[in-house]
Amino acid sequence: MQIAQTPDNSMPVSPAPYPFEINRIGEVAGAEIIGLDLSQPIDAATKDAILRAFLEHHILVFRDQSLTKDEQARFSENFGELESHVGRHPSGEQYHIVHTVTNLGPDGKPEPKVMPKGNYYWHTDKSYHEVPSLTTMLHAIEVPEEGGDTLFANTRMGYETLTPEMKSRIADLKAEHSWEASRRNTNSAPATEEQKKARPPVTHPIVRTHPDTGEKTLYVGMHVSHIHGLPKDESDALLAELLEHTTQPDLVYTHQWRKGDYTMWDNRCLLHRASPNYDAATERRVLHRTVIIGTKPY
Ligand code: OGA
Ligand code: MN
Repeated sequence: MQIAQTPDNSMPVSPAPYPFEINRIGEVAGAEIIGLDLSQPIDAATKDAILRAFLEHHILVFRDQSLTKDEQARFSENFGELESHVGRHPSGEQYHIVHTVTNLGPDGKPEPKVMPKGNYYWHTDKSYHEVPSLTTMLHAIEVPEEGGDTLFANTRMGYETLTPEMKSRIADLKAEHSWEASRRNTNSAPATEEQKKARPPVTHPIVRTHPDTGEKTLYVGMHVSHIHGLPKDESDALLAELLEHTTQPDLVYTHQWRKGDYTMWDNRCLLHRASPNYDAATERRVLHRTVIIGTKPY
């Protein structure tokens, strides 16, 4: 095997150290970053280091943060274009670009049914869009005493650990993703005609190439309707098998939230889901959320 060498034939240099404290916190993904204050503007070198850490660890957890919504929007915009939200509050009010994931009702009291049900199923954000989300950022404002975790499955490792036979079987397969299928797959209220028109089905490869690292990942989850060109039974069985494989406990990092955590995860190589492992009727869970638009999967 040929070993990559630098142009002057010297040995490859070790990667530059990070200009902040960073500790790996999960087996398959996840690193915490200590000592940065994201409410303040960051310089180019810090931004580059964050991006490097993001590609290496897939989920970054900045500890002990306290950002206003405007500060969160400003920090998020370092990494691309913010995704706006199609929906409106029941009151008709447009969502702020930084919106809230919570179990609190309009009266500010815990209400077990407030959180979108779909969040409890494995998914990668907005895969029912032609151009899905790159990173999702959640800032923990209030967290339950116990539980209320978020689970992340490493889909690069999911792909890597498939058998050679499975890799060649799925190499060229494409799947349809849609809001309608997502509602169906998560036992949620069916999509309305208006929603179906606003979000028509899209097609993405099952094996996605990460645009920044070139690595292959499994691009599946609850927004998938079916695989093109296969009988329904076979498509359903294959999708279930791939999902089960890449979300096996060995490939999952479980994030236990601390108040002040600011997470940033890579939707291109992770699936995620909320865990219902807390008492949503009495505990308070409030997270501020921003999303950066990605690129069309290939
Ligand atoms: C999300 C999401 C999960 C959670 O914000 O996209 O899926 O644990 N959240 O709140
Ligand atoms: Mn999500």
